[in-house]
Amino acid sequence: MSATTTTATSKRIGVILGSTRKGGNALGLAKWVSTFLQKNIPDEIEIVVVDPVTPPQPLGPLLHPQMPSLVKELSDYPTEPIRDWSRFVSSCGAIVVITPQFNWGYPGELKNALDHLYYEWHGKPAMMVTYGSRGGAKCAEQLRQVMGKGLKIKLVGRDVLVSLPHDYIAGEERVKGDEEFLKAFEESLKEASDELYELMGGEANAPA
Ligand SMILES: Cc1cc2nc3c(=O)[nH]c(=O)nc-3n(C[C@H](O)[C@H](O)[C@H](O)COP(=O)(O)O)c2cc1C
Repeated sequence: MSATTTTATSKRIGVILGSTRKGGNALGLAKWVSTFLQKNIPDEIEIVVVDPVTPPQPLGPLLHPQMPSLVKELSDYPTEPIRDWSRFVSSCGAIVVITPQFNWGYPGELKNALDHLYYEWHGKPAMMVTYGSRGGAKCAEQLRQVMGKGLKIKLVGRDVLVSLPHDYIAGEERVKGDEEFLKAFEESLKEASDELYELMGGEANAPA
């Protein structure tokens, strides 16, 4: 097996955050999603939220001497953080991307994290949770193209689009993960995470 091959049997779900901003809504939304996933899927699945500002992330400028799609072995990567990122993504049976919409797209840091690898993403089951004043639909649309078509990630059919109330964007409020308004998005989170777990080869827990 090449060092960059997906470990399809892995019982780990990696949660990748699009925003690196301090004091934003990303960590609260990650808590909401990971708490929900932990209830919705069997205990044996480990959920790992990647801190986007602690090594191996952020990865910085692309330093690969050759396109990531030409990299076949871990040793072909130019730095240890990229190798660590490759090992981590390969160790995940599925990925959840949680990202805000920035200027009708998604944050550059997220694109950078995706672009550093190639074969590690192929066929990896994944779902997206986007957020913004209207759910981040434009960002979800762009990500679907990059992740689904460009990187051949196996995306679930439904994206979870979380509309944040005005005070969470322009005011002082920040998501902690247990807000009432999040309940409106739990049905789509359930549908997406059920499908994600099916793509991992399992069957989600029945509702409590
Ligand atoms: C650079 C920037 C651009 C933004 N552009 C949009 C946008 O196009 N649409 C939208 O709904 N919200 C937009 N927002 C609001 C963010 O979606 C909102 O602030 C969100 O909480 C940011 O995620 P974070 O708090 O995890 O960093 C933007 C915020 C920033 C910082």
